[in-house]
Amino acid sequence: MQVDFYVHDLKPSAADSVAQVIGTPFITSGPVSRRVEKQLVDYFGTKYALLVSSWTSGAVATLLALGVGPGDEVLVPAMTFIATANVVQLLGARPVFVDVDPDTLLVYPDLIARAVTTRTKAVIPVHIYGQMLDIAAVRSVLRDRPDIAIIEDSAHCFEGEFAGQKPGAHSAAAIFSFYATKNVTCGEGGAIITNDSDLYHKILQTRIHGMSAGAIDRFRIGGYQHWDMQRLGVKANLPDLLAALLPPQIATIDERLPKREEIASRYEAAFANLPIRMPRRLTNSRHARHLFPIHVPPAIRDEVLALFAHRKIGCTVNYRSVPTMSYYRRSYNYRPESFPVSHDWGSGTITLPLYAALARDAQDHVIDTIRSDVVPMIDKVRSAV
Ligand SMILES: Cc1ncc(COP(=O)(O)O)c(C=O)c1O
Repeated sequence: MQVDFYVHDLKPSAADSVAQVIGTPFITSGPVSRRVEKQLVDYFGTKYALLVSSWTSGAVATLLALGVGPGDEVLVPAMTFIATANVVQLLGARPVFVDVDPDTLLVYPDLIARAVTTRTKAVIPVHIYGQMLDIAAVRSVLRDRPDIAIIEDSAHCFEGEFAGQKPGAHSAAAIFSFYATKNVTCGEGGAIITNDSDLYHKILQTRIHGMSAGAIDRFRIGGYQHWDMQRLGVKANLPDLLAALLPPQIATIDERLPKREEIASRYEAAFANLPIRMPRRLTNSRHARHLFPIHVPPAIRDEVLALFAHRKIGCTVNYRSVPTMSYYRRSYNYRPESFPVSHDWGSGTITLPLYAALARDAQDHVIDTIRSDVVPMIDKVRSAV
């Protein structure tokens, strides 16, 4: 039996929405994007939302708007996707890595507080795998440093909540990814939400080269409008062609979550008494169930990946410790022991298939393979030490 790693939720009718945009003269960021931004504001309850071409371009636009540059430090978890650190490095600032909690894989506020220096300009906590961390607690440990901006990496966490609050409630901004495998997707894309009017108006410019007016405003009925470049920006806007795919997905996001929750809970129950590690589920949060990672002893991880390939089970590795990547090791002389939790988890992690269309027999195939083949491999390696 073939089990795909991921199958998206887009319906054939999505093509009609794109066709409608093609039928208008304006295919870049225009009226559709504005409607989606309003939909995001309504969903998250923040004052503003801005669509962007990816999480990465949105983060660059946000950090530019905050004035992050050479000499600045930005705290990022060691356990995340490389983009979280790369955006800081790209702007000439220093990503300062912080290790994560061994149970939840979330950064914990005390470690953040300990890494703060006079140069710290921002912190980018990550709601990894879709489990939201307590941003109010992060704000609280930084209470003496209101100048430090919290930018939530919500790439995995659209529908997640902590203590009943969604991303964006306690931070300068939260940034989402609409990449191909995300719970809301348009192939490539993203969004920024914020309550900060000054930051919003700056990002309006930094997401479009620093221009004072985007295309739709330059070509308004009534004549051409001049524009100025008031700050340095990047090209980060999302075209209406892609934005058109988003409204039905955002409208149904809460209805679609229970199916992934059911599959993830089923995995958790099946592996609970096996020697398979999983991130601990927080009780006072709503998990967005983006990815389902497990951890096996690092010595047999590649063997398990080969077994899954043999059994035709799609899987991947999300994520390895970012400071152990060659580029960061070379740049900052990190050693694997510098961030032991992230290194250990990153050396043994495997992500299992998790999506609404994952049929019951496909789930059984994954669970049975782990029970009957992976567990004996783990027992063997453990008895050898
Ligand atoms: C935690 C995290 N942050 C940022 C990104 C970057 O998102 P994008 O591909 O939309 O730039 C990803 C992408 O998977 C991610 O997993």
